[in-house]
Amino acid sequence: MASLSAATATAAAAATRLLPSAYTSAASLSYRPSVSLGSLRSSPLLSRIFLPQNSARRLSTGRIGYSTASPPKCAASDPEQLKSAREDIKELLKTKFCHPIMVRLGWHDAGTYNKNIEEWPQRGGANGSLRFEIELKHGANAGLVNALKLLQPIRDKYSNVTYADLFQLASATAIEVDPFFWTSGSEAGGPKIPMKYGRVDVSGPEQCPEEGRLPDAGPPSPASHLRDVFYRMGLNDKEIVALSGAHTLGRSRPDRSGWGKPETKYTKDGPGAPGGQSWTAQWLKFDNSYFKDIKERRDEDLLVLPTDAVLFEDPSFKEYSEKYAADQDAFFKDYAEAHAKLSNLGAKFDPAEGFSLDDIPSKGQPEKFVAAKYSTGKRELSDAMKQKIRAEYEGFGGSPDKPLQSNYFLNIMIVVAVLALLSSLIVN
Ligand code: HEM
Repeated sequence: MASLSAATATAAAAATRLLPSAYTSAASLSYRPSVSLGSLRSSPLLSRIFLPQNSARRLSTGRIGYSTASPPKCAASDPEQLKSAREDIKELLKTKFCHPIMVRLGWHDAGTYNKNIEEWPQRGGANGSLRFEIELKHGANAGLVNALKLLQPIRDKYSNVTYADLFQLASATAIEVDPFFWTSGSEAGGPKIPMKYGRVDVSGPEQCPEEGRLPDAGPPSPASHLRDVFYRMGLNDKEIVALSGAHTLGRSRPDRSGWGKPETKYTKDGPGAPGGQSWTAQWLKFDNSYFKDIKERRDEDLLVLPTDAVLFEDPSFKEYSEKYAADQDAFFKDYAEAHAKLSNLGAKFDPAEGFSLDDIPSKGQPEKFVAAKYSTGKRELSDAMKQKIRAEYEGFGGSPDKPLQSNYFLNIMIVVAVLALLSSLIVN
């Protein structure tokens, strides 16, 4: 206990050094959004943003109109629209470099989950409630209205996609896509997140969670605070550390959260809106540099919040932080699992088991796995089984996408013809 207090005191001291004007108690952090919500509410865009969604958007399989082995019977979001929305999100990321704020948006929608409350939506979680003004005004959500404004045109284009799915789709896509893919040609972004979709939206602001469910950056005892908050979500120490690694992306801005420097050598020129203090030098690239930088603390221009510092001070957290600093693959694996789990917290899925976008063929493209059609009424084939069947087809030069013509009748005809020929020869 004594060593814990010493550790947190060190963390606090480090933060005071890095953030001279900002290390105050969480309660005294001022919420100063860069845009006034009151004035935005009258704008046509924002009044649409804050409107409850049309709740009667249930789709039958027939209306969805995509062809797949086992289409969801009824979906909160139209899978085909969701897939198209993903392409639009990639375009948005490419032009705005808004990867970090999309990840934060998804996390703050999901992170209100309370595993001790059974009822939906009172339990909070990934249910799209963060689109409502009342929740956007929570101190922890300062600045996230900007993420919503970026996504709203995509939501308007694909009205059969729920906000809950759109937020999580934007977040997962931002992790996976390399921000410099278009210039570097490298595809190495973050890990692929095993996402599922079909989250139902809450319908009105009265269903938003109360303020105070998300973590503070500078609580008196960071380790126990993190455990209080993340254990309430049903997450464990490994997941706390892995998820904190998302701070490899993005910046903290004093005019939003109260933390960080107004600008540093890494942020003064953007990309995207300049300013803020990042945790890493390449703050748009998803890798394990967050853990390396927190461990080394060599650069005054890089941010270390008290809740970041404690990841190398608490013995249980430290075990994972050390591992992730040394081994990026281990970080990617644990991060991908933890991110997927976070994105499902508290969500109500329709269909109940959710659906994966990997199973939905793109518009205008041939159906990927024809053989699976014949499993109608049976259990969906697992990906491993599909791969096995595909390998067997390909082993003899075929493809499950284009099954070989059956030669059964042709073979019988040939045998009959040969027999007839033989018997006529014998008779003659
Ligand atoms: C462990 C507890 C956490 C605390 C105390 C915390 C705190 C903060 C703070 C203070 C900021 C700066 C916000 C601003 O000024 O704009 C921030 C940004 C951010 N957080 Fe966290 N965070 C935590 C966990 C997480 C998790 C679990 C994720 C994602 C899985 C995450 C993702 C991000 C991202 C990507 C940003 C950058 C946003 C931007 O650049 O606009 N954080 N966080």
